[in-house]
Amino acid sequence: MAAYEKYQKGIFETADSVMPMYLRPSQAERNPPPAALPPPFARGTVRERQDFSIKNMTLEDFKSIENSLLTDFDDFWQPETLKDELMNKSSKYIAAKEGQNNILGFAGIWNGVYDFHITDIAVRKDLRNQGIGSMLLEKLIELAKQNKMETITLEVLCTNTPAIKLYEKFGFKNAGIRKNYYKGTQDAFIMTLNLM
Ligand SMILES: CC(C)(COP(=O)(O)OP(=O)(O)OC[C@H]1O[C@@H](n2cnc3c(N)ncnc32)[C@H](O)[C@@H]1OP(=O)(O)O)[C@@H](O)C(=O)NCCC(=O)NCCS
Repeated sequence: MAAYEKYQKGIFETADSVMPMYLRPSQAERNPPPAALPPPFARGTVRERQDFSIKNMTLEDFKSIENSLLTDFDDFWQPETLKDELMNKSSKYIAAKEGQNNILGFAGIWNGVYDFHITDIAVRKDLRNQGIGSMLLEKLIELAKQNKMETITLEVLCTNTPAIKLYEKFGFKNAGIRKNYYKGTQDAFIMTLNLM
């Protein structure tokens, strides 16, 4: 019977009765869209978020980023190296977090007698240039002053403009070059902040 005749006789087909029977799940079911990402932070607003904090980085924090360290943060260190660093008594690591264990970035130092040596600062790739690196560095400088350090030093790849700009913003000065420091081929600037 033609659809119009059915309509005239009051016979209606529902969506269910005409639904095609797929032999396999539809593409939409096989490849559901990714869960929506949280909205990005507006520049400078991270600090105002109620659940934002900068705290000592724990092994729990490490576990929550272990599998995404290389892809989402930085490929400078293998996860095992960061884990060893967290257990090293001469090191101190801090993490920028949202809530309990959503790690937005982290930073660490080696604790010398007169000098804090920054080992790494890494911010999640999708949250960079929004002030999180600055807040981590600010905290390290505060800790260095509390511990009566005279200097903070670090090495940075000569081509790493975002990092160099970050350090310069806080007054770090170029103190020399270490030739072939990274991977035996790439030069690093030595940068120092004098706290005295
Ligand atoms: C370096 C890094 C930690 C900076 O973190 P961030 O959260 O993006 O830094 P901020 O948003 O606080 O920016 C700090 C300053 O750096 C500069 N900056 C940041 N990103 C920049 C970019 N892509 N290009 C140029 N300058 C940049 C800005 O001048 C900014 O200063 P402003 O606040 O006056 O504008 C981040 O880029 C990162 O994780 N890089 C990979 C890991 C790494 O290389 N770490 C350094 C190891 S030595």
